[in-house]
Formats: sequence, C-alpha cells, structure tokens
Amino acid sequence: MYQSIIFYFCLTATTILGISVPSYFHKVDIAKIGTQEHLFPFLAGSAPYFDYPTNYSIPRDLPDDCQLTQVQVLARHGERYPTNSTGRKIINTWYKLNNYTRDFEGSLSFLNSYEFFLKDKFDQFEALTTQENSISPLNPYLGEYDAKRHALEFSQRYESILRNVTDLTIFTSNSKRVYDTAKYFSEALGDGFNISLAVLDEDPSSGANTLTPGYSCPKWNENDGILEGFNTDYLTDIVKRLGAENKGLNLTTTDAYNLFNWCAFEISLSGYSEMCSIFKIEELIQFSYYNDVANYYSDFVGNPLIKAIGSVLFNSSMTLLSNNETTAGQNIWISFTHDTDMLNYMAVLGIMDNNKNLTVNSVPFQDHIFHKGWLVPTGARLYTEKFQCSKKTNDSSVTTAEYVRHVLNDVVIPIESCHSGPGFSCELHEFLKYGRDRIRDADFYKNCGVRDVSNTTELTFYWDYKNKPYNSSLILQ
Ligand SMILES: *[C@@H]1O[C@H](CO)[C@@H](O)[C@H](O)[C@H]1NC(C)=O
Ligand SMILES: *[C@@H]1O[C@H](CO)[C@@H](O)[C@H](O)[C@H]1NC(C)=O
Ligand SMILES: *[C@@H]1O[C@H](CO)[C@@H](O)[C@H](O)[C@H]1NC(C)=O
Ligand SMILES: *[C@@H]1O[C@H](CO)[C@@H](O)[C@H](O)[C@H]1NC(C)=O
Ligand SMILES: *[C@@H]1O[C@H](CO)[C@@H](O)[C@H](O)[C@H]1NC(C)=O
Ligand SMILES: *[C@@H]1O[C@H](CO)[C@@H](O)[C@H](O)[C@H]1NC(C)=O
Ligand SMILES: *[C@@H]1O[C@H](CO)[C@@H](O)[C@H](O)[C@H]1NC(C)=O
Ligand SMILES: *[C@@H]1O[C@H](CO)[C@@H](O)[C@H](O)[C@H]1NC(C)=O
Ligand SMILES: *[C@@H]1O[C@H](CO)[C@@H](O)[C@H](O)[C@H]1NC(C)=O
Ligand SMILES: *[C@@H]1O[C@H](CO)[C@@H](O)[C@H](O)[C@H]1NC(C)=O
Ligand SMILES: *[C@@H]1O[C@H](CO)[C@@H](O)[C@H](O)[C@H]1NC(C)=O
Repeated sequence: MYQSIIFYFCLTATTILGISVPSYFHKVDIAKIGTQEHLFPFLAGSAPYFDYPTNYSIPRDLPDDCQLTQVQVLARHGERYPTNSTGRKIINTWYKLNNYTRDFEGSLSFLNSYEFFLKDKFDQFEALTTQENSISPLNPYLGEYDAKRHALEFSQRYESILRNVTDLTIFTSNSKRVYDTAKYFSEALGDGFNISLAVLDEDPSSGANTLTPGYSCPKWNENDGILEGFNTDYLTDIVKRLGAENKGLNLTTTDAYNLFNWCAFEISLSGYSEMCSIFKIEELIQFSYYNDVANYYSDFVGNPLIKAIGSVLFNSSMTLLSNNETTAGQNIWISFTHDTDMLNYMAVLGIMDNNKNLTVNSVPFQDHIFHKGWLVPTGARLYTEKFQCSKKTNDSSVTTAEYVRHVLNDVVIPIESCHSGPGFSCELHEFLKYGRDRIRDADFYKNCGVRDVSNTTELTFYWDYKNKPYNSSLILQ
C-alpha cells in the first residue's frame, strides 16, 4: 500500500512543472513520513485514511458462483485542512507557545527549531488538500491522491459492471471539499465513459432532497450536556507535564486538547508530526474515547433524532436496491458527503451498535465497538453490494437469489441479525424487510420539524436528476 502511494506520487511529480510552485513548504524529515500510521486510529477521523482496523476475515471478493449486480458507494471527502473553527483554536495555542521566551525543554524541545505547519495557510481552512495547496511536496496523504487512489481501486474491483457504463452521474454535496473529492475521483475513474457531477445543496431549504439531511433538521441538537461528566484528568496531566518541563508555560486544558488536533492535522498536511510524540498512549486512548462519546450522542444512536435523519439516505439505498423501473438500468450509484451523514446512515443500517450506551465516567473497553475515527476517517467509504448467486439443487437444476452486504473501509461488516447468505450476506428481500422495520417510525419530516425550513418531504435526486439540474454553487463548509 505504501509503495503504491510513492509510485503514484512519482507519476504525478512529472506534471509538477506545469503548476505554480507553492510559496511555502513545511520542513519535514522525509524519512519519518509514513511512520505514524499506528496513531491514525486514535485521532478521531482527522488523520489520513486507514482501512477498518478490525477484520472479521470475510473475503473481500464475492463468494464463488456470485455475480455483482449493483454497487452503491457513500463516501466522505478526503484529507483536508482543519475547519475554520478548529484551525483558529490550533493557532491560539501556537501563539501561546510562540510567545514563550525561553528555550523549550523536554518533549516540546523540537519547537526550538520549528516552523508552524499552518503558517500562511489560514486562507486554506476547510479545503481538501491537493497538489496545488499542499505544504509538503512529498506528503503521500493528500485528499486529492486519496480520491484518485480510491477511484483506481474501485475501477479494478468493479470492472465487471463499469465495463458496460457509457454515462455515469456521481452525486456530491455542494461543500467545496466534498465536491473536489468527487471531481478527483471522477477524473481518475478513466475516460471510458462520460461522468457528470450532480451537486446537491446543503442548505436546510433542501429538506429531504439532499445528501446532508442533518442540516435540514432544525430539532437536532448536539446533545453535548452528556460530555460534562467526562473525566478530563488526562488533559490536566498533559498541562502539568509540559509546565513542569517548561517553567512559566501556562497552557490550559483547552490548549492540551488542541494539541491532539495539531498532531492529527500536521500528519495529514505534511506526512509527519513531531507534536504527536508528546502524548502517552493512555492520553491518546482518552482523547479518542472522548470523541467517540461526543459523536455517539450527537450523530449516532445515542441521539434520539438520528434515526429520523439517517432514514433519508438509508431509505433511498433500499429503493435503489429494489431496482424498480425508475432506477433500473443503472447499477452504480456513487455519492460523496460528510462524516456525520455517514454516521447517521450507519446508525440506521445497524452496524457498530450493541445496544449499550457509551459511558462517560470510564472507558467500557470490552463493550466499546463504536469508534468514530475508524468508521469515518477522512476518505471513508461504505459500499453496499448487491449480487446474484446461483446454487445447484438436488435435482441438479439451478436456482438463483439476490443478496446484499456492506463493506466499510475495505472490510466486510455483516448485519448482526441477517447474514445467512453467501459470504455472510443478507438475502435481498430479508434485507429490505429488516431495513423497513428499522425506519418504520423514523418520519424525518415530522420528527425533525423540517416544515420550519423546507417543504421538500422526500429525497428524489437519485431518480429525477436526469430531468432536473442539480448544480448548486459551492460553499466553504
Ligand atoms: C480483511 O480480510 C479479508 C479476508 O482475508 C480480505 O479479503 C480483506 O482484504 C481484508 N481487508 C483489509 C482491509 O485488510
Ligand atoms: C473564521 O473564524 C474567525 C474567528 O473565529 C472569524 O473571524 C472568521 O470570520 C471565520 N472565517 C470564515 C471564512 O468563516
Ligand atoms: C503572541 O500572542 C498574541 C495573541 O495572544 C499574538 O497576536 C501574537 O502574534 C503572538 N506572538 C507570537 C510571536 O506568536
Ligand atoms: C454487460 O453487457 C453485456 C453485453 O450486453 C452483458 O452480456 C452483460 O451481462 C453486462 N454485464 C453487466 C454486469 O451488466
Ligand atoms: C460522451 O459524450 C459525448 C457527447 O455526448 C459522446 O460523443 C461520446 O461518445 C461519449 N463518450 C462515451 C465514452 O460514451
Ligand atoms: C504564566 O503565569 C504566571 C503566573 O500567573 C505569570 O507570571 C507568567 O507571566 C505567565 N507566563 C506567560 C508566558 O504568560
Ligand atoms: C441511551 O442514551 C439515550 C440518549 O441519552 C437514551 O435515550 C436511551 O434510553 C439510552 N439507552 C439505554 C439502553 O440506556
Ligand atoms: C422511502 O422511499 C420511498 C420511495 O421514494 C417513499 O415512497 C417512502 O415514503 C420513503 N419512506 C420513508 C420512511 O422515508
Ligand atoms: C419506483 O421508485 C420511485 C422512487 O421511489 C417511485 O417514484 C416509483 O413510483 C416507483 N415505481 C414503481 C413501479 O414502484
Ligand atoms: C411551504 O409552503 C407553504 C405553502 O405554499 C408556504 O407558505 C411556506 O412558506 C413554505 N415553507 C417553506 C419553509 O418553504
Ligand atoms: C443551474 O441550472 C439552472 C438551469 O440551467 C440555471 O438557471 C441556474 O442558474 C444554475 N445554477 C447555478 C448555481 O449554476
């Protein structure tokens, strides 16, 4: 995997003369790039993409005697700059460190000869990382490369159904980094067919007809009161340790928290971060768990409204699977959106939910299966595969049936209560029944109070995009 990244870079490096040379490159020890991948699972989805770390060993290839008939992709944008809000917080902590007048001692001593990784890059906040806006010419983790690599892997794996395609529409929200990810993905998919992008508005007025139904749900709230009980001693420990090493350095627990994001985004932007070395493993576990709890109660099953929000995209997936005459003929559906929308969807799909709420006072190690950063790292991708399998019966006639299964970040994740099909898949009609049960009382429009922001009660873009222009202007969000 690492080799292929480097190879890919060499290919693209030959074109670099054609583009303007970035004004600023961050200093990084090239030999260290790629040595921090073991930290990605702790960094709450802000570090670069990684495959799902728990593998149930179900082969990624389809079982024998099965043929793919449809694939749906729901994917997150790739590696990016911090958001404006997180970026400003990192900068505030940087100012504090930069105002310190003595030499740094201990784990922060690397700062004595260090150039801040976000220097001169404030105008790039929110953006996907690309060859053009990169701070490090050798960074293999650019969002642009991730999207292109994903497309190449996708086209190899699904060559059998891509072969027959002449026109393909790819769906994206109108967030610029999401759109850019879709664009790079499309470019790398090849020139065997015409690709168009349908750009769906994130504005609440889109109602249900959007890839980001969370924004159309006025009743949603972050549910963050729950976090008040979270033990933040791990942050105090960091403050004390760095303070003991550096007399007069007055960091706060907020600064300590910001340093984790500094670590994550610096790896993402330049390939390596010295800042990551200041943490003990226990602290990384606490930081990671804090983010799991926060997201569990804001965008996953711990928030009572998530079922309503997630039902919008999940229901459309079921409609596409049932392949009625409106959508028949098209068997590839690719959509790009944000991490929260994917989490909402997975909450309804029913994976990584063991019916045990995450606790705030301690880490429930053995009951802890919801890891936000593992489900939706940057570049996350959830595939829904539909396939037809044939089976010889006793009288040697052949019967066929259709099945569904889900692949998250390249690992097959079976539905806990429905996986008796080949390769632990779920028989199509059983899956549709299972799915309809899960959204029976979801009622997005009513439960979310959508009426206050929009009159659009249903998602229609997957079946009316040919007749309706979905071309919203891009936004930085
Ligand atoms: C998980 O294991 C299966 C079976 O060995 C393999 O096909 C698949 O590629 C593995 N996925 C990852 C991400 O390693
Ligand atoms: C970014 O955040 C700063 C400070 O919070 C604010 O002044 C500025 O308007 C924000 N920029 C954008 C583009 O949202
Ligand atoms: C010191 O901190 C202030 C804000 O508190 C900031 O404006 C200033 O740029 C900082 N100085 C340095 C050298 O970073
Ligand atoms: C592709 O087209 C060929 C010829 O029309 C057909 O036999 C084959 O079943 C198609 N494959 C798929 C996956 O639709
Ligand atoms: C793409 O669209 C153009 C114009 O509609 C058409 O001429 C061309 O044949 C299409 N290419 C493919 C590969 O289908
Ligand atoms: C840190 O706090 C101490 C005591 O409040 C104060 O004397 C010192 O100036 C502060 N140092 C910095 C760098 O702000
Ligand atoms: C889990 O937490 C949610 C939200 O706080 C609550 O509605 C639900 O009843 C809890 N479930 C269990 C099994 O404790
Ligand atoms: C699911 O989608 C179908 C087809 O678009 C629609 O008729 C139905 O109302 C939707 N159901 C829910 C619960 O959203
Ligand atoms: C097919 O699905 C579309 C979208 O949900 C719906 O409008 C249409 O009525 C369905 N057609 C049939 C025949 O079920
Ligand atoms: C919904 O439709 C009604 C009646 O046409 C209209 O008065 C109202 O402003 C619309 N609401 C929104 C949020 O668009
Ligand atoms: C989208 O397309 C419509 C119809 O062609 C056009 O009127 C509208 O201005 C376009 N909107 C944007 C943002 O390009």
